[in-house]
Amino acid sequence: MTEAELYTVYKGVYLPTLLHPPQSLEYYEGFSFRPDDILIVTYPKSGTTWLQEIVPLIQSGGDEACVDTVPNWDRVPWLEEHRACVLNLEQRPSPRIFATHYHYNMMPVSFFKAKPKVIYAIRNPRDVFTSSFHYYGMASYLVSPGPQNEFLKKFLEGKVMFGSWFDHVKGWLNAEDKEHIMYICYEEMIMDLKGSVARIAQFMEKSLDTEVKEKIANRCVFKNMKQNRMSNYSLVPSEFMDQSKSEFLRKGIAGDWINQLTATEAEHFDAVYKDKMKDVTYKFVWD
Ligand code: A3P
Repeated sequence: MTEAELYTVYKGVYLPTLLHPPQSLEYYEGFSFRPDDILIVTYPKSGTTWLQEIVPLIQSGGDEACVDTVPNWDRVPWLEEHRACVLNLEQRPSPRIFATHYHYNMMPVSFFKAKPKVIYAIRNPRDVFTSSFHYYGMASYLVSPGPQNEFLKKFLEGKVMFGSWFDHVKGWLNAEDKEHIMYICYEEMIMDLKGSVARIAQFMEKSLDTEVKEKIANRCVFKNMKQNRMSNYSLVPSEFMDQSKSEFLRKGIAGDWINQLTATEAEHFDAVYKDKMKDVTYKFVWD
């Protein structure tokens, strides 16, 4: 199916209509944030699911019931998804934990007033592309990626769900009031998960014993997290996500783009990246 059939254009970006019908976008627009909410913000395929495991475990002080009994999409709901409207989020006790893929300039009015805590995760866009290519091939609510070079063109032009990676990252890096935003790279989490858990816990103002941080990190390493039925999307019917084509928790590594992009594609990616990111001063692990 085509973009016109599967996507809605909202605030200038494509959103998959099945997950984000008009009433859920309206719900989010009128949503009331609290200052002590914790919001995981990502461009898709940048480690959202990983943080939906880590952040609740930090909040629970390492009690695993929260990740053993509740699927990640109800544990840390996406505010722009239709399920947000039916979960009674207004009744949840503080601190509530949410996720969103919105760009900074798409956020609703109350976000800028309440200034909740934001954990913004960034992943090397070459790996985001690689992960997306496989994901678009298995998720029926997305337009099939087609040949790799065509999907690369769409990705670099932002003609994919949630628009351009470059605009997303630049928007959040240039956010005002940065004291309520923590930036973390997927690659840092790969290199030092225990240290990353400690950094996130500190940002959340949760003091945890060393053993608890170790336990959380151990629980969240790829091979362990992949076993969690509440987080590996095995509860989703295969008509929607066909994990026989590509698993949701696929490889969980940094640098897989080397196995995906041809030399010409990688060169083209570099040129576009250099141009689009020329004014960005943030030091990424991969640069
Ligand atoms: P790959 O497709 O490269 O394996 P999101 O949750 O934002 O959609 O991102 C999905 C990506 O994060 C997938 O990347 C997935 O495997 C990876 N991921 C999820 N949990 C992870 C973990 N515990 N450790 C490392 N990577 C993880």
